[in-house]
Amino acid sequence: MGRLLLIMNAANSAQDYLKKNFATYLEDLKKLVRIPSVSFAGFPKEEVEKSAQAVADLLKLRGLENIQILRVPAKDGEVAHPYVYGERLRAPGKPTLILYAHHDVQPAGRTELWKTSPFEPTLKQGPGGERLYGRGTADDKAGVVVHTSAIDAFLKSGLELPVNVKVVIEGEEEIGSSHLAEFLKTYRSKLDADVLVLTDTGNFDCGIPALTVALRGLAAVEVEVRSLSKTVHSGMWGGPLPDPVMALSKMLATLVDDHGVIQIPGVMEQVKPLSASEKAEFSKLPFNEAEFREQGGMLPGTKLLRDESSQQMSPIVQLFRLPSLTVNAIQASKREAAGNIINDAAWAKVTIRLVPDMDPKKVLQALKDQLKKSAPWGVEVHFLHEGGTGAWATEPSGPAFEAATAALKAGYGVEPYKLGSGGSIPFVKPFADALGGAPALLIGVEDPHTNAHGENESLLVSDFEKACISQVHLFTEIAERVHVNK
Ligand code: BES
Ligand code: MN
Repeated sequence: MGRLLLIMNAANSAQDYLKKNFATYLEDLKKLVRIPSVSFAGFPKEEVEKSAQAVADLLKLRGLENIQILRVPAKDGEVAHPYVYGERLRAPGKPTLILYAHHDVQPAGRTELWKTSPFEPTLKQGPGGERLYGRGTADDKAGVVVHTSAIDAFLKSGLELPVNVKVVIEGEEEIGSSHLAEFLKTYRSKLDADVLVLTDTGNFDCGIPALTVALRGLAAVEVEVRSLSKTVHSGMWGGPLPDPVMALSKMLATLVDDHGVIQIPGVMEQVKPLSASEKAEFSKLPFNEAEFREQGGMLPGTKLLRDESSQQMSPIVQLFRLPSLTVNAIQASKREAAGNIINDAAWAKVTIRLVPDMDPKKVLQALKDQLKKSAPWGVEVHFLHEGGTGAWATEPSGPAFEAATAALKAGYGVEPYKLGSGGSIPFVKPFADALGGAPALLIGVEDPHTNAHGENESLLVSDFEKACISQVHLFTEIAERVHVNK
């Protein structure tokens, strides 16, 4: 029997095993989801530790070796949540893959808006079929299990993995990976690899896979405006005293124009105009406005926003090819304390999504300058917790991308879209760069109904299974197509 035939048989046996035992892998996922591993400041870091341990146990159970919890020292005033590492290096002469996912999650948000309990994974019918509801189901604990299930399926079928794997599961992705540079420096020698595989992105739609080829970056800052040393009666003092909430509102209002387009000097100037080939490529993407509005949860009277001068650009292209500015949270007093007062201070978190060619540091500085410059009435402006990560884009050609395309086709029965995404993953660019431009394959199980970061996050179970099966094929496809000199 030829080698190619052998390796295809291997994929088929592993795939059959995976399908028969999919319920076990779904249980693996539920176990991880039950741990509320919120990495944000103010949430118990012990839960992220527990989650790291649970991931380490799962890696062991599913056949990885040399399992370690990897740490770096925390930066001042921060917590450095651990990474989990495991490897299986038993395919001499074959490529080595870094298999990435993250085990931390966003806060559950407003629990009263959840229809199920956020950390009790629950199966229910939803868009596309049966879905698993819970915080971190699709983003990104399923990503961990996509890796472990595929590995297990080979080993339990009595086969060795056709490639070498190094599994890296991060614990601080959702807060911007601020210890990534240190992590990379400390553990670089252990992390040599030929291909990066990240399962933390989304599909084009339910049942329709995507290979993500561009991500936006992010510049983030919290701004606090202080005008008084204490909260006072708005009747006794209202008029002459400066209201910090109104001051902050005026400052925020200067950041975008009537179309939502960023107006901060020096920001839009960094965006490269669309090339002819991009225009041609992007015009192939199907776009249905009614469906887009419905998936994004837009209320009937609300308008899609865009730059008047870029009328032809489809909103789905806008998501990954243009920057955007969002006020993620705003606070002054609270609803239960909304007496007739003038507040002492007001606070907001502002983030800007970045596209290639934008410099996160410059954007952050321009944002802060604009906020400072527009502050009225002599109020104090303070900045806290700033951070930035660059955008990433790749040219999806060569054997690794061909392997991924074939693997997704095998798993989903449909050709994958090559797509840009509006989200960010700080790990990708520094890692791909450190590995000398190694190809980075971004796949994942989010879909337009997943509602990652919002309430009622969910995972389409049938797509989760298809992603696991694709991963089995990805190992064999890479083993066949990617050649390394070792
Ligand atoms: N999984 C997402 C990113 C994502 C989602 C990319 C869908 C592509 C498609 C990831 O976990 C995430 O949310 N990242 C953060 C990073 C930030 C804190 C720097 C984000 O994008 O907000
Ligand atoms: Mn996320």
